[in-house]
Formats: sequence, C-alpha cells, structure tokens
Amino acid sequence: MFFIKVPLIGIDLGADSVKLACLKDKKGLKELILADIVKLPPDTIVEGEIIDSNAIIEVLKDLSKTYKLKKTNVATCVSGSSVVIKKVKFPVMSKEELRESIRWEATQYIPFDIEEVNIDFHIFPYEEGAETMEVMLVVVKKDKIELLSNILLEADFIPKIVDVDLIAIQNQFEFNYGIDYESTIALVDIGAEITNINIIKGENSLFTRNVPIGGKYFSKELQKSLGVSFEEAEKLKLEDKESENLKKIKMEFLNLVSAEISRSLEFFKFTIEDTPISKIYLSGGCSKISEIDKILYEKTKIPVEIMDPFKNIYINPKKVDVDFIKSNASLLPTVIGLALRRI
Ligand SMILES: Nc1ncnc2c1ncn2[C@@H]1O[C@H](COP(=O)(O)OP(=O)(O)OP(=O)(O)O)[C@@H](O)[C@H]1O
Ligand SMILES: [Mg+2]
Repeated sequence: MFFIKVPLIGIDLGADSVKLACLKDKKGLKELILADIVKLPPDTIVEGEIIDSNAIIEVLKDLSKTYKLKKTNVATCVSGSSVVIKKVKFPVMSKEELRESIRWEATQYIPFDIEEVNIDFHIFPYEEGAETMEVMLVVVKKDKIELLSNILLEADFIPKIVDVDLIAIQNQFEFNYGIDYESTIALVDIGAEITNINIIKGENSLFTRNVPIGGKYFSKELQKSLGVSFEEAEKLKLEDKESENLKKIKMEFLNLVSAEISRSLEFFKFTIEDTPISKIYLSGGCSKISEIDKILYEKTKIPVEIMDPFKNIYINPKKVDVDFIKSNASLLPTVIGLALRRI
C-alpha cells in the first residue's frame, strides 16, 4: 500500500468489477505501484450502461479510503452504446481545418443529436494529391461523460480524462508490444457483458466492433442448466471442476463467442480490407477460460495469444501482490491503458 500523492490513476468500471491502477515513472521505466479489482453487485452496469451509480460510488469511496486517494486525478473510460467509432471519408484538409468543421462534417454519420456529443478524430495517412482522406471518428455522448464525472466527483476523485475502452487497450498494447507497421492484428477483449474487437495496423485502428456477449452469458446458461443461483453458477464456473454439465456449457459458450469473433473478422475481410490478420491478442476475464485460445484458433485459423499488460512494466513486489496481479493480468489491459495516460 502507498500513501504518496500520485499524478493520475486509471479506473475501469466494468460490468463485473471496478479495476484501479497506478503507474510510476522510474528512470524511463514504468512501475506498477497500485492495482486492485473489486467486484460490483450484479446489474450495477448492464451492457455498458450504468444502472446503479450509488453502488459504484460506494466501491470507489472504499478504494479511496484504503489507498488514501482523496482528490486524485483519474482517467476512466466509456464503452457500449454511448460510443460510436466510425471510419469515414472527408475531403482532404488540415487537422486544424477539420477541427473547425468536424461538427458539420460528422453530422450525417452520427446516430445522436450533434449537440449531445463530444467528437474526437484521427486522420489516416493519405497519398499526396489525394482528394479524400480517411478519418476515424470517435463520438461519445456528453451525458455519459457527465454521469461518469459526477460519479467520480461524488467519490471525491478528480475526473481528468475520459477515454474509450478499446482505445485504452490499444494504447496499452502499443506500450507493451511496440508498434508493428507491417502486420494486421486483432485485439479482442471478452469481458462480463461485452466483447470488444479492434483490428489494428501500426498505430491505426481499421475496424472496431462491440458484441454484447461475455462471461455473464456463460454463468446464466449454467444457472439455468443446474437450477442454482447466479452467484453459485459464477462460483462453479470459476472453480472449473470436472463436471459433464459445466464442460458442455463451457464448450457451447466458447463455440458461440468464437463464432461471433470469427464473423466480425470475416466481415472486416470482406468489407473493409482483404489483408490477413496475423494474430489475435486476447484479454478480458473470459480469456482465462481454459481452452479458449484453442477453440478460437480452430474457428479462425489465426494464432491466438493471451495479452500480457505487464510485458514492459515492472510489478513492484513491495507495493502490490505480484501473484494476485499476475493471475488476474488479463483483466487489466484497459485500466493499464488508462493509467498510462498523462495529463
Ligand atoms: N478464471 C476464469 N474462468 C472463467 N471466467 C472467468 C475467469 N475469471 C474471470 N472470468 C469471467 O470474466 C468476466 C469478467 O471479466 P472482466 O473483468 O474483463 O469484465 P468487465 O470488464 O467487468 O466487464 P465488461 O468489460 O463486459 O464491462 C466475468 O464474467 C467472470 O466470471
Ligand atoms: Mg471490461
């Protein structure tokens, strides 16, 4: 535990748990000095939407008290239906010109009232003399940002950055694995309720998709099949003991989620860019399910690797429980991406 004032912490509010992390710069290296994962009551966050703010505030207040984090700056993220990420074509113009006209240019691509959103963008490289350029639009509903900010303020934190979850994962990936300008890679995070897919090449995101499936679906199927409570089903799932019923439902879930991922990757190939995807990097709690990499490989024929968000980060054993962090590493890419942000 540490009690020094830190510049910024990352907080990832997931459907299953709140994750918290803080990194310290030490001689050009990054050091993990704080990380925790706290379960949320069921149905606090459903499909990326916050249903029970008070439950989150309680958890955040407890964390603040435990780690003495009152009035600490926070980077957090949004996901789900309040975010639209879209690649569109605009006439060639400078970054400044686009910044001036983005609201007008983007109107036709956004399913929300333009006054109700914040818009960020990224211009893809284009050939000299080109008339159009590709732009990645990142649109977030203002009310979602306000809600998150208010929750953080209520818990006595200072909201500084609101990122998008799959962009936070991508930043973390670049930091840990470097930037590969030659290969097309799929970053796939299978959480409790949402599976996030982000296909990248170099620093560019080529395609993103949210599929509403995750570990809760697995637990609910188990709950129905065994006639037990959700909590009991969740417990049995995590214990992963030999049982025919559990094995059958696990395989059904793995086949279903792998088919969804495969379908998205095929969609990318046929409609966006016909380049082979060289690897899938998997994260999220469901990447801990045994055999997930094997089943996903069988469905996609793309090599699968479980992402390590600490590949390039020193886990300080004097500050954090190394065993706990390592065994839960695949739950932490998003929050590490947030903790890497600087104000
Ligand atoms: N060892 C494990 N075996 C099977 N499932 C696991 C294991 N560990 C965690 N999970 C499942 O992973 C899910 C939690 O993953 P994660 O923490 O990435 O989700 P989240 O970020 O809270 O949710 P979301 O991103 O969907 O909002 C839960 O459904 C949990 O049951
Ligand atoms: Mg998550």
